[in-house]
Amino acid sequence: MPDKVLVTREIPEAGLQPLQGYDLTVLSEAPPERDELLEAARGASGVLSNVTEKIDAEFMDAAGSGLKIVANMAVGYDNVDVEAAKERGIVVTNTPGVLDETTADTAFMLLLAAARRLGESERTLRAGEWEWWGPKLFVGVDVWGKRLGIVGMGRIGQAVARRGKGFGMEILYHNRSRKEDAERELDARYMGLEELLQTADFVSIHTPLTDETQHLIGADELGKMKPTAVLVNTSRGPVVDEAALADALVNGRIFAAGLDVYEEEPKVHPKLLERENAVLAPHIGSGSQETRDRMAVLAAENIVALLSGKEPKTPVNQ
Ligand code: DGY
Repeated sequence: MPDKVLVTREIPEAGLQPLQGYDLTVLSEAPPERDELLEAARGASGVLSNVTEKIDAEFMDAAGSGLKIVANMAVGYDNVDVEAAKERGIVVTNTPGVLDETTADTAFMLLLAAARRLGESERTLRAGEWEWWGPKLFVGVDVWGKRLGIVGMGRIGQAVARRGKGFGMEILYHNRSRKEDAERELDARYMGLEELLQTADFVSIHTPLTDETQHLIGADELGKMKPTAVLVNTSRGPVVDEAALADALVNGRIFAAGLDVYEEEPKVHPKLLERENAVLAPHIGSGSQETRDRMAVLAAENIVALLSGKEPKTPVNQ
């Protein structure tokens, strides 16, 4: 009998190929209801999950003692209870390295759009309300030559910094540990979070969501930023206090924000939805076909490796 593998959402075809020899269940395109998810997990040896599914102790127990691997199709894995998995001897894998450049493109796209008021001006044009060219119309702030502050200088943070370098920006960063390679390669200057917030013209967040980074950017931190500054978040919503950010945008405490992630996706704080100076994307950071293919294949290959007695390529808890 082939092992049972559950894929919790429809994924690119490329990711299903390696799983063909298994007893494969693929759920729907939309996130499954909890009951459906728990039911489908029963008896699975491997699960290919997405960020929309809570893979907690209840899920693992529903799957049963045969569950050996949860392969999350994302670099972030805050939706998986890694401790509960460890206690049950379940390996958890993620998809690092294959989505850095695409996610960095998204961060830079949001940065440019927020700086140059693209969302607001495009909405005006589409509404048929663009009446004339004007010397003061939709005037934004320059990106080139400014200071880019990266919070979390991992692979994605460094990829964003490289884009900033291409725009002639000065790179500042804050990270748990110094990144000497990045300092050499990108001329990046390390600083404490407070100093970075006070100094940077653009702040781009690239930390994982952990107990320490929950609301890392709140009212106090936003209060330290320049009134002309732009905040970009493509990491996880709860790293930024969304209500405090909405207030900062309402009060002109900062110039603009570019967001791809939210505290309670798919809900977005109503005040943010009203703000012209917020560019809001629906969690599309890694959303290119090529990258989604790579993520799906890596997740699937991790399952195949583990179920055939080999080491998965990208475990998070081994
Ligand atoms: C990730 O990889 O963590 C993204 O948020 C999902 O694409």
